[in-house]
Formats: sequence, structure tokens, C-alpha cells
Amino acid sequence: MILNDIIVTLVKYQVTVSSVRFSTKINMSLEKAKQVAAYKAVDKFVTNNSVFGVGSGSTVVYAVQRLAERVKTEKLKVTCIPTSFQAKQLILKHNLILGELDTNPRIDVTIDGADEVDANMILIKGGGGCLLQEKIVASCSKKNIVIADYTKDSSKLGDRYKKGIPVEVIPMAYVPIRNKIVDLFGGEVKLRSAVAKAGPVVTDNGNFILDWMFTNQDLDWDHVNKTIKMIPGVVEIGLFVNMCAIAYFGQPEGNVVERSAASN
Ligand code: 5RP
Repeated sequence: MILNDIIVTLVKYQVTVSSVRFSTKINMSLEKAKQVAAYKAVDKFVTNNSVFGVGSGSTVVYAVQRLAERVKTEKLKVTCIPTSFQAKQLILKHNLILGELDTNPRIDVTIDGADEVDANMILIKGGGGCLLQEKIVASCSKKNIVIADYTKDSSKLGDRYKKGIPVEVIPMAYVPIRNKIVDLFGGEVKLRSAVAKAGPVVTDNGNFILDWMFTNQDLDWDHVNKTIKMIPGVVEIGLFVNMCAIAYFGQPEGNVVERSAASN
């Protein structure tokens, strides 16, 4: 009996250890993929005496790291425009030059992450809740480059990313907006809940986020983008249509796949 218990425990332990090893390996390859995509984009697109839009999210962390290295070794002068509180903190942490749109309304290049990129280079953004400032900064950029790991590279929106399209809204209007989106395009709309706080996520701009779980993957996303944006109380939608020139997808093996709007 005792021997049997010992064997069961050992088998369970073995299963746990191997599943931990497996998930650690996946996480490592994801982090490596993010890093190689970010480094490649910064190496190719950031130049001396330029204005650089700093995106938000975990992949952008590597881009700022690489930028800081290049600024130091190559003595570059790069003014960084943040797309979120997180981006601003990253710029400050790495002692980079912090700028703002008031003084630098024309940005040379912005490098940002994405939650999903479809075959037409349409993006879902806002998984981290920063879509409003990200879209403003992207709209001021001559060039927008996406950096992402291989899991974000999709044929159709919704193929791989299952958390829906974020919509930033004025808090008092979230219920009517929720109903209007469902009436117009179907699916289901959820108010995004905070994790370490009771109640909803409140964005950097003091708004709520609705996550629209669409069911029709063949919608005209340009039309959807413009129509939802026109609903009173909608501040921004996390659909980026015709905004991104090039996407770099880091691969598990450490290489980077490049996709451009022109190549589609
Ligand atoms: C934040 C974003 C991020 O760019 C997007 O969520 C991707 O993040 P990550 O690089 O962590 O996967 O849009 O609003």
C-alpha cells in the first residue's frame, strides 16, 4: 500500500515536472520570438535625429531595451513619444529622451505590438488597454511597424486571438454602446474587468473597455471600424485598418518573418 502511494506520487511528480518543463520551453520560445522581432525592427528603422513612437505591451519592452543599447553605443539622438503610461515609464527607466505630441506632432517611425495581424495587415490592438493613445501616435507616424511573436500572425481576424476587439468607451455610455454593437454586427460584448481591483478596467484616459467577441470573421473591417467609431460615446476601437506598413513576426527558431502591406 505504502509502495503504491509512493509510485503514484512519483508518477504525478514526473507529469508535473515534464509539463512545467514543456510550458517553460514554450514561454522561452515566445519571449525569444518577441525579442528577435523587436531587435530587428529597431535596428532597421530607428535612425539618428529622429522622432520615435514607442508602442505598448510586452514585445515593446524589448524594442526599448534595444533602442537604449543603440543610443548608448552609437550616441544617437532619438526623441521618444509614448503611447501609454507603461511606454512613458519604459522611456524614463532607460534614460531616453521623452517627447510629446505638442512639441513633436510628426513622428518618423512607431514600433508597436499587436494582438493579431490578418492577411491584409489589419490589426487588433488594445489587449493591454492602450489602443487610444496607440492609434493617435500611429496616426501621427510616417511609418508604423508591428513587432510580434509568431502566434499573432493570422489569416483572418479571430483565427488565433480569442479575446475579441477592444472598444474604449466613455463610462456612462457603455450599456447603450454594448447593445448597439451587438445589434449592428452580432456577437457578444463584455465589459473588461480589472484583475487586481474590483470592477472594470479603467484606461490611462479614465475610460472603460468593451471587448467585442465577434462571430462573423468575414466582416468588412474598414466599415466596422468607421461605423463603431461613429457611435456616440465610443472613444476608439482597436481595429487598425491601413495603418501598418510592415510586420515582423519572431519565430520559435529565432528567425524573423517579415510581411508588408505591399506584399499582400
Ligand atoms: C496594448 C497593445 C499591445 O501592443 C498588444 O496587446 C500586444 O501586446 P504584447 O506585445 O504584450 O503581446 O495593443 O494595448
